Amino acid sequence: MCTNNIYYPYQMKLTEIRDETHDIRTFKLEHVDPKLKESFTFLAGQFGLYSILGEGEATFCIASAPTKQGYIECSFKKVGKVTTALRSLEVGDLVGFRGPYGNAFPIEQMLRKNILFVGGGIGLAPLRSLIDNVLDRRAEFKAVTILYGARSTADIIYREQLAAWEARSDVRFEKTVDQLRPQDEGKWSGHVGLIPHILSKMSVSAENSVAVVCGPPIMIKFTIAELNRLGFNDSSIITTLENRMKCGFGKCGRCNIGGTYVCKDGPVFSASDLKGLPDSDF
Ligand SMILES: Cc1cc2nc3c(=O)[nH]c(=O)nc-3n(C[C@H](O)[C@H](O)[C@H](O)COP(=O)(O)OP(=O)(O)OC[C@H]3O[C@@H](n4cnc5c(N)ncnc54)[C@H](O)[C@@H]3O)c2cc1C
Ligand code: FES
Repeated sequence: MCTNNIYYPYQMKLTEIRDETHDIRTFKLEHVDPKLKESFTFLAGQFGLYSILGEGEATFCIASAPTKQGYIECSFKKVGKVTTALRSLEVGDLVGFRGPYGNAFPIEQMLRKNILFVGGGIGLAPLRSLIDNVLDRRAEFKAVTILYGARSTADIIYREQLAAWEARSDVRFEKTVDQLRPQDEGKWSGHVGLIPHILSKMSVSAENSVAVVCGPPIMIKFTIAELNRLGFNDSSIITTLENRMKCGFGKCGRCNIGGTYVCKDGPVFSASDLKGLPDSDF
């Protein structure tokens, strides 16, 4: 095994496949090497590079919680070469994995605070790792509120997980879709409207609170603006970025924005970090 090579991918076995939507799939993966399976650790917010021989690598966050040991999960949307090739894999096949890379959500700074999670679309994947991590340590946090939005009911991911969060008495869970499809009339129990608009009506308090926001850039931008209006200051708003990457650990210069490397300085940033980046649109 060539473990001195920093680009060496470890082999992980695909042990479960779940289709979340027509184009988003979740993999459960376990290290083939039993020692690695035992010793592997990561933090919520970190990512990996997942590869398939002859096709290349793609970057996905680790979507399972660090408190669930022995496996990781990732969820990916079919957009191009590698994600299409990954969809051809079956349970029992091998996937290359490099990581974990990147910084992490500052969970220790969230202790004894109210936590507001705002997730849009597949942006729930990195949030899910942190939400489960927080819920596995529930007593260490104050109120937990989750707002999840998808374009339509057909685009909702992690349905079982959402139902479990919704059923908890120690979590406030709100869901929304941008638009209701005719076939969902009378069946949808959530809100209808864009995330920032629903957030504006939720009467959340910014006091002793941290907001964690993940989703498409446009949703992050307008959600940060709404959170600011509700009284959250930029240092108490945390988000993640998804710039193009190659190496994953600060060597290739593919991911940088000015002097900031998304792969090693991020992918987790506060809104104040984001607003300080060159040509920031936030
Ligand atoms: C830190 C980080 C975490 C990520 N987490 C996830 C995740 O959990 N799930 C997930 O589905 N995706 C995630 N992504 C995006 C994912 O890496 C890309 O969608 C994937 O690499 C595309 O691979 P591909 O070979 O299938 O597509 P390609 O053939 O390389 O590209 C197909 C299309 O997607 C666009 N594209 C490729 N990569 C990106 C990117 N990083 N940002 C925006 N557009 C891109 C290309 O411009 C092209 O239009 C993450 C990216 C980063 C940097
Ligand atoms: S991905 Fe290579 S420097 Fe960030």
